Amino acid sequence: MSDHPAEPGWIGVERFLAQTLAKPDAALQAAVSTAAAAGMPAIEVAPTAGKLLMLLARISGARRILEIGTLAGFSTIWLARGMADGGTLVTCEYSPEHAAVARKNIDGARLGSDVDIRVGPAMDTLPLLAGGAPFDLVFIDADKVNNTHYLEWAIKLGRPGTLIVLDNVVWDGRIIHEKSLADPADDAAAIRASLEFIGSHPRLEATAIQTVGAKGWDGFALALVT
Ligand code: SAH
Ligand code: DHB
Ligand code: MG
Repeated sequence: MSDHPAEPGWIGVERFLAQTLAKPDAALQAAVSTAAAAGMPAIEVAPTAGKLLMLLARISGARRILEIGTLAGFSTIWLARGMADGGTLVTCEYSPEHAAVARKNIDGARLGSDVDIRVGPAMDTLPLLAGGAPFDLVFIDADKVNNTHYLEWAIKLGRPGTLIVLDNVVWDGRIIHEKSLADPADDAAAIRASLEFIGSHPRLEATAIQTVGAKGWDGFALALVT
């Protein structure tokens, strides 16, 4: 019998898939262990999702990648590994402490010269990126209340063909629960509003996929800027 009545093998399957297809190497493992040692929450993407980010970067031929929400650099390392040679990844992180841990992990993965960490609230650092070459891929994974603002920035800093990935769009199903939507301490309403923004935006062609595993029930949206 499962040790959790509502866990029909998802976690074991995820472990098998990660082990078989998306096994974190030492540099990626360090991004998880140093986060825990520094007291950060274990909210990095799952290894299978990180590998998807790497593949999306490679499939799209991304040379310029923007990430919002670095934590300890786990998703950053996956994304940077999928980036075209000579590319640049800019990652925005609110916390100087998180950024310092991420810097070490990214340098440890030998990606230091490819990754530029911008420290501070992303709504302050994103405007400073305007005027540069457009980003080919944008991964949004920070404070959910700003999701819609980050989507607006992703479009502004992108081009037709830019791929936007938005994490945590299912939020354990709370995006459709009246009580969660009415709770100001829950980001469900902001997440739902950001999905509605995507769905009604004339320049975004999008879908969302639900996920389940050790990180619970969640999902991500993919949006193509047209
Ligand atoms: N993408 C990471 C996880 C990010 S967790 C991974 O998968 O490995 C979310 C991060 O967003 C945290 O480090 C948090 O400090 C940061 N964050 C929160 N509010 C922010 C803001 N206003 N601007 C930039 N980063 C923010
Ligand atoms: C949380 C944030 C995330 O980006 C995530 O992937 C999982 C959880 C959180 O704030 O709880
Ligand atoms: Mg996330």
